[in-house]
Amino acid sequence: MAESTTEPVRPAGRIVLGVSGGIAAYKAAELLRRLTEAGHDVTVVPTESALRFVGEPTWAALSHNPVAADVWTGAEQVPHVRLGRHADLVVVAPATADLMAKAAHGMADDLLTNTLLTARCPVLFAPAMHTEMWLHPATVANVATLRSRGATVLEPAYGRLTGTDTGQGRLPEPAEIARLAELLLRRPDALPPDLAGRRVLITAGGTREALDPVRFLGNRSSGRQGFDLATVAAARGAQVSLVAANVELPSPAGSEVIRVGSAEELRAATHAAAKDADVVVMAAAVADFRPASPAETKIKRTDAAPAPVELISNPDILAELVQARAAGRLSAPVIVGFAAETGDQHADVLTHGRAKLARKGCDLLVVNAVSDGRAFGQPDNAAVILAATGGEVDIPLGPKTVLSAALCDAIAALLPE
Ligand code: C5P
Repeated sequence: MAESTTEPVRPAGRIVLGVSGGIAAYKAAELLRRLTEAGHDVTVVPTESALRFVGEPTWAALSHNPVAADVWTGAEQVPHVRLGRHADLVVVAPATADLMAKAAHGMADDLLTNTLLTARCPVLFAPAMHTEMWLHPATVANVATLRSRGATVLEPAYGRLTGTDTGQGRLPEPAEIARLAELLLRRPDALPPDLAGRRVLITAGGTREALDPVRFLGNRSSGRQGFDLATVAAARGAQVSLVAANVELPSPAGSEVIRVGSAEELRAATHAAAKDADVVVMAAAVADFRPASPAETKIKRTDAAPAPVELISNPDILAELVQARAAGRLSAPVIVGFAAETGDQHADVLTHGRAKLARKGCDLLVVNAVSDGRAFGQPDNAAVILAATGGEVDIPLGPKTVLSAALCDAIAALLPE
């Protein structure tokens, strides 16, 4: 088991941040800030129309680098070739319909489109536009072309658009784009389109079991691991449903989020969504017990000692899913469990994990050590992915997106053609 407690190494990368001309250009300033604060060397390449939304001084000040805006300035350094060649990663945020159309057709009439032709590193497009533009057959075809050539094109997020309308088209959260950028710098091969067309159901967060209308029994799960997994699976092409129990994080772009509270609610939502899923990942921390009879009104403080709380067991949803599949009521070829373990006097974390994998009957079990506040609420995690077929993949302490990518690798390997 990887028990390393040292801070993960954060390799600095050379990033080209392309900004095209949409109103979401102002959000790219926050993305830029996150990338530079993580220690990366970022050169911003705005299109001419992006500069009408956010001016050059903003990009220069936040990147601490000169802004590369056209192919003619500093021509002796051949910037249209140099930038792309030397980049470890190109991120385009926001990527407009126009910019992706040009990129899909290999046009090169400004510095950003030239850079996209010369770059040989991973390219991440974060689109933002009105729903009609995103769904237009021209855009759909251009996105498909870019993806077929190895670029990662994120799904825009749902929500309020620039006008009074709501729909798919918002720029994914800058923090989410930054986490994917970090992932691609660490693992350039982390986002293959191998989950395209697959329906992936993920549960995340921690359930709350009511004691009375204001109090509950809960746990420390923040939902970050499940949400990062949703981000990575969606970036690999999956259609993601995310059952989120008490998670305060913004919805990942490209996922349908079903918010629940208790284990019973999570159970109902999970069984409903599992029916047509190819993959079910139970990353949620589901309460094993709940108060037998929650009070209908708030339990009052009295001078007498409080009454003991009687607990009853919650059904094991993961075990139910495995049973449902064995009975032919569920077809999901891959069912994944998580096990947050602490060692004890009987056995270490991994031994408990192996026993749990056998007991639960799932295909993969992600085992992580949670002693000393590790994993819960942290951006980093260390784990071992155990396969029912005997395989074992050790993931050293690192971002939860890296663990998510390794888990997607293991899932993709188990999916039938
Ligand atoms: O047995 P334990 O609670 O450690 O198992 C953890 C795994 O089982 C996780 O994948 C969790 O989502 C799932 N689980 C469940 N239903 C429960 C308790 C846990 O599906 N009632």
